[in-house]
Amino acid sequence: MLNFSYWILYIACASFVDPSYCLSNKTKLILTWIPFYGDTTFLFGDGSPEHFRSAGCPYFDCKITGNKSEFPLETFDALLFHAAESHPRFGTPNIRLPNQLYVFVCFESSQNTLIAESKRHFYNVTMTYRLDSDIAWTNFRMYTKTGTLMAPKFNPKWKLREPESEFLLPESISVAIETKKYMAAWFVSHCNTVSRREYFVKKLIALGIDVHVYGRCGNLNCSRADGLEIASQYYFYLAFENSLCEDYLTEKTWRALKSGTVPVVLSGANLTRFLPPNSYIDARKLGPERVAEEMKRLISDRALYENKFRWHQDYETPEGQSEGQGWKMGEHPFCKLCEALHTDSFKKSKAFDVIKWWESSQSGDGKSCILKAPLDWFSNNFRYGWK
Ligand SMILES: *[C@@H]1O[C@H](CO)[C@@H](O)[C@H](O)[C@H]1NC(C)=O
Ligand SMILES: *[C@@H]1O[C@H](CO)[C@@H](O)[C@H](O)[C@H]1NC(C)=O
Ligand SMILES: *[C@@H]1O[C@H](CO)[C@@H](O)[C@H](O)[C@H]1NC(C)=O
Ligand SMILES: *[C@@H]1O[C@H](CO)[C@@H](O)[C@H](O)[C@H]1NC(C)=O
Ligand SMILES: *[C@@H]1O[C@H](CO)[C@@H](O)[C@H](O)[C@H]1NC(C)=O
Repeated sequence: MLNFSYWILYIACASFVDPSYCLSNKTKLILTWIPFYGDTTFLFGDGSPEHFRSAGCPYFDCKITGNKSEFPLETFDALLFHAAESHPRFGTPNIRLPNQLYVFVCFESSQNTLIAESKRHFYNVTMTYRLDSDIAWTNFRMYTKTGTLMAPKFNPKWKLREPESEFLLPESISVAIETKKYMAAWFVSHCNTVSRREYFVKKLIALGIDVHVYGRCGNLNCSRADGLEIASQYYFYLAFENSLCEDYLTEKTWRALKSGTVPVVLSGANLTRFLPPNSYIDARKLGPERVAEEMKRLISDRALYENKFRWHQDYETPEGQSEGQGWKMGEHPFCKLCEALHTDSFKKSKAFDVIKWWESSQSGDGKSCILKAPLDWFSNNFRYGWK
């Protein structure tokens, strides 16, 4: 899609032989070497300085292109590699200048993204869902009512409110609660996973939880478009990740919150980094028996159930948070990339070992993922950093 301002710029550029009309020699040039499922700007418009400006970036004199012959290779300041699609057919650049930064971009879990040994010392900068990335590109975000980013953060200071204090449910939530008909919905397309979520769900069903399974692994159909509406008829939404990795929380939880239901979250993430207290059920921490008990308790006690929506008093989670989208003005990770290139502010280490980083926990004493979830779900080892 070309918007109007792009056309003005495009026509202006096309009518001058000298491209400096559009790009100065101060423009930071970014080359996408491995695109995001075919999209060379990772859904960031046309990647032009105009787009950086319209996204509210404080530094906007940057350009992203996927065209390797648009500029000489040695003029690029940074190269983007979508690591989840790394494949020998993409090859590697035949020239690498010492000051060019290679950026490891990834939104898939570290369990699902293997890095070739030959790339161990290839990258300089990371842009991933992990909070300890040079630039975190998280799949889920929560804001205060005044628009400040609240989470994810390493240690968000959630506001504590007395459970008995007065509060008014938002109208849409009251309506959603009024019309709830069913216990739990699970939207799923991968049926066998390392998180063994499918066993967790079987166990919940055996414990008397009525789980409706939508998608390829179940017998119910829905399109992405009507997913939220369908979900709102349920008391609970199973937001079960396919792999259990530190900080790996996808838009499933966002969908649950957005549809006015309570997420039951199975994730390797420390959920206090992501979600307000009492807004979810932590399946990894509780295991199926206690989760089933808690679900039944909440369904039978309206006031307790309504308390799960108290976070609406203080926080909100904006629209569009799927596939890494839904950023507020000036907050897109590419704004931060542009700024860091202009201010030369990346912490650089010449021998950054990306494999070691990607596979280890942030505290350094364990792995970033639980390799295979144990079926008993209660073993003391079953926590993040499990070895
Ligand atoms: C950038 O462009 C300006 C104007 O064309 C020129 O004077 C300057 O020398 C250029 N700087 C570099 C580093 O090429
Ligand atoms: C890539 O850039 C070159 C040089 O500007 C141009 O000739 C070519 O048409 C571009 N290719 C595509 C696919 O846009
Ligand atoms: C980026 O990483 C490469 C490969 O490890 C290294 O040679 C280069 O010095 C690094 N560049 C910067 C600016 O740190
Ligand atoms: C989760 O994060 C919170 C906030 O940073 C921290 O206090 C808590 O110890 C962490 N929990 C675990 C199990 O790591
Ligand atoms: C779900 O949709 C597909 C494709 O539209 C259809 O072939 C299938 O029969 C549907 N399944 C159910 C259970 O409705």
